[in-house]
This record gives sequence, structure tokens and C-alpha cells, in this order.
Amino acid sequence: MPLNYTDYLKLPELLDLQEPKSKPEQQDELLFIIIHQVYELWFKLMLHEVDKLKRDFSKGDLFGAIHTFKRLRTVMKTLVGQLDILETMTPISFTSFRDRLESASGFQSTQFREVEFVFGYKRADTLKYYDPSNPALATIQKRLNERSVIDHFHDFLALQGVEIPVEVRQRDVTLPAEPNEAVQEGILNLYRTRGECEILFEVMTDFDEGMQEWRYRHVKIVERTIGSKQGTGGSPGVEFLKRSLFRPLFADLWAIRHRM
Ligand code: HEM
Repeated sequence: MPLNYTDYLKLPELLDLQEPKSKPEQQDELLFIIIHQVYELWFKLMLHEVDKLKRDFSKGDLFGAIHTFKRLRTVMKTLVGQLDILETMTPISFTSFRDRLESASGFQSTQFREVEFVFGYKRADTLKYYDPSNPALATIQKRLNERSVIDHFHDFLALQGVEIPVEVRQRDVTLPAEPNEAVQEGILNLYRTRGECEILFEVMTDFDEGMQEWRYRHVKIVERTIGSKQGTGGSPGVEFLKRSLFRPLFADLWAIRHRM
């Protein structure tokens, strides 16, 4: 039999993966499960695209990098937009099944942490929340130790003639990247002289803004749905999440804007 839509997409398996825990089943639990599963699929795609993006940067493939960043930016905007659907769930409705989540929380999303780490938003302290026997720990540890998009971006800038200081080239990649004035001068110069690089920098800024929008919208949905309750993952909830607000991935792209 020729391959068909159902088999190619493994739909029976896929559509069998939503198992509400509430009894009697609460109306909104299916939405809650589906939305998180969809996020995980998009995270999977993002990680797949980032592996290509890093290669593009390190070999100086500007158009390849622009193309992939455009896709990543659009996925990010979709991730932000999807929260609108979940916001149709009221606090009372969420409370009706929240206990069934036990200690499950987005906090434990390995792929989200990978996404943070691959873009250079490295927070080694988040590893302590994983059980040492959890195989996800090795995956995240690997991402922590590898060069992030920002390091490959520095390779790209060097190929465009930007002098990357030794402390940036040899930085400890397990730490968040620090803003650097010499790198900023190089980017500013490319902004002024190379229109095609300007397109790349702007689409990277779009992505960065999208990530910050996601964090803000997530904090707001948490605040409106559970208020000051503790998170199911054991954090103080809203107060913990607020610490990540307004922290860019590509600080050098934001630091120069008043000079343009
Ligand atoms: C009503 C909806 C939601 C509520 C009440 C909620 C609540 C929370 C809370 C309280 C935390 C802090 C950690 C903890 O102690 O549990 C958290 C973290 C997190 N949530 Fe949600 N969340 C919601 C929707 C979502 C959605 C749709 C996603 C999509 C994947 C998501 C992904 C995450 C991630 C990745 C973290 C870790 C963030 C970080 O470490 O900075 N959450 N959530």
C-alpha cells in the first residue's frame, strides 16, 4: 500500500498521547496537555534549526543564517501567540485539575532549557533541580558545555573582519555571554556599511525580543491563573519567573541602538 497521510504522520500514535488525569475529566485539561505538547514540538524544531544555524555562522553563510533566523523568529512569535489560547482557561477551571499535575511543571522541560542554553542564556544552577538518575541531565549538561549561538555569531563577525577580543574568543562557554564594547563597535560598523548584515542583525533582534515577549506573557498567564501560589515545580512561582524578564540574549545588539 502506498504511504498515506495517517501513516506518514503516525497519527494514531500521536493522537493517543493525550491522557487527562482528572476524574471526572475536567473540560480544560485536554487543552492544557495539547498546548504543552505543541510547545515541545516547536522546541524540537528550534533545536534542529539551531544546529544548522551554528554551522551557517561558523562558515560565514550570511544568507543561510538569515533564512534560518527568519524561521526561528516566526516560530517564536507563534509560541507567544499560542498563549492567547491558554488564557481562555479561567483560574477556577485550572484549579479543578491542577492537583493532578502533582510536581509536574514546565520548569522540567529539558528542551526549553536546551533552547535557553543553545542561545547562550546559561543558568547552570537550574541543573540542580534534576534528579541525577534523570537521563535528561546529560543532554542539558552537554548543551551547557558546548558553544552557543552567540559564540558561532562571533565566528561569523570575525569572518566579516570584526576584531573579536581574546577574552571573548576564549570565554568560558558554560557562562552567559557578557556584552563587549569591541564587539559592539564591529557590529555598528557592519550596520553602517553592510546592508545585508543589517538584515541579519534585525532578524536576530526580532527573535530576541520574541523570547523576552514569551517570558513576559508566561509570567502574566501564571499571575492571572495562579496569582501568588507556589509553582508545581517547587519555585516561588511568579517572583521566580520575573527574574528572567527583560534580559536579552544578544546584549551587544541592544547596547548600540542609541548610536544609530
Ligand atoms: C496556566 C498556565 C501556566 C501556569 C500556571 C504555569 C506556571 C508556571 C510556574 C509557576 C513556573 C515556575 C516553576 C515552578 O515552580 O513550577 C513555570 C515555569 C515554566 N513554565 Fe509554565 N505555566 C503555565 C503555562 C506554560 C506553558 C503553556 C508553557 C509552554 C511550554 C510553560 C513552560 C514553562 C517553562 C519552560 C518554565 C520554566 C521557566 C524558567 O525556568 O524560566 N508554562 N510555569
